[in-house]
Amino acid sequence: MKKLNVAIVGATGAVGEEMLRCIYEFNFPFESLKLLASSRSKGKEVVFKEDTYIVEELTETSFEGVDVAFFAAGGSISAKFVPFAIEAGCVCIDNTSHFRMDPEVPLVVPEVNAYALKDHKGVIANPNCTTIQMVSALTQLNDYFDIERIIVSTYQAVSGAGVAGMEELYRQSREVLDGQEPVAKTLPCGSDKKHFPIAFNCIPQVDMFDLDCGYSKEELKMVNETKKIFNKDIKVNATCVRVPVLRGHSESVYIETKKPIDMDKVMELLGNSHGVDLYDDLTNQIYPMANLFIGDELVHVGRVRKDLHNDHGLNLWVVADQLMKGAAYNSVDIGLKMIEMDLL
Ligand SMILES: NC(=O)c1ccc[n+]([C@@H]2O[C@H](COP(=O)([O-])OP(=O)(O)OC[C@H]3O[C@@H](n4cnc5c(N)ncnc54)[C@H](OP(=O)(O)O)[C@@H]3O)[C@@H](O)[C@H]2O)c1
Repeated sequence: MKKLNVAIVGATGAVGEEMLRCIYEFNFPFESLKLLASSRSKGKEVVFKEDTYIVEELTETSFEGVDVAFFAAGGSISAKFVPFAIEAGCVCIDNTSHFRMDPEVPLVVPEVNAYALKDHKGVIANPNCTTIQMVSALTQLNDYFDIERIIVSTYQAVSGAGVAGMEELYRQSREVLDGQEPVAKTLPCGSDKKHFPIAFNCIPQVDMFDLDCGYSKEELKMVNETKKIFNKDIKVNATCVRVPVLRGHSESVYIETKKPIDMDKVMELLGNSHGVDLYDDLTNQIYPMANLFIGDELVHVGRVRKDLHNDHGLNLWVVADQLMKGAAYNSVDIGLKMIEMDLL
């Protein structure tokens, strides 16, 4: 198999660190690996398995000789540097929201819409983490039952806000247990006016609000990205909540389908869905919880039950490590799929 020259942009971040692990653990074929971050991290040593890397500062010329770059350093960084990478002949797989709704850019979850990769023009967008795990769990059900509407509430981990989000939960938990007032600096959203404690709390705000419609940007990402990935006009209604969990997003998902729900078929489809772990056995209290699956790449589905009042309604509880399936693993899986399709 051809080996590629690879770069990770944002290699010192929460997603970037998992990206490095995924490249090794899922055997992404690389000849060389360049770790890029800001000037703050320049020269930092990163050791993985028996290999040592020195972090380089991201510049306009970082992509000379690079075949594929995984971007996870924020939307403004992708906006500025992806064009330089494309110019240098490098294919970019981008974790930020910057390119996701661009009609020229494929937005891909491999088990749902890998076919879209063939139309890429140098950049492929990795969807929002909450959207990835939801569409991955629902894709087989959509193919068979034809989903018309989704109502979803999320319970999102602090690592969704990066290293700073995790540090905030640790620090505030210690402050509360020491009898001090917790100090909020980052959550719910670094760029908003107010910050609230996440320790021992839930915050019904992830990302900034769109004041015209009353939804947060995270909620609107679920609405718009789901339509683009499924390539149909599914009506999505989302409420996104940050909870004091370190890692792993959970979602209560309710779907309404065109065909009536047949529970035997639902369980058969979920049991055979690629990348989905049906983890559902009420007699033995088996259901997914975020802290059971840290570091794994699957989407775990449980509490699957038909609506008591609607033959076309179904409830599911969907859990995934969002740093993996919602970010690093999905990106590396896109790269592997592109190699398989001869696009890299
Ligand atoms: N966290 C998640 O669950 C998740 C899921 C899906 C997508 N994403 C997206 O992935 C991106 C990264 O998120 P994260 O959670 O990993 O954030 P993070 O932990 O804050 O890491 C940010 C990374 O970007 C680098 N960076 C910041 N400014 C830079 C600059 N001017 N030039 C080069 N590198 C720079 C940082 O380098 P330094 O260490 O040198 O500052 C660090 O490596 C964001 O766009 C986020 O929306 C995150």
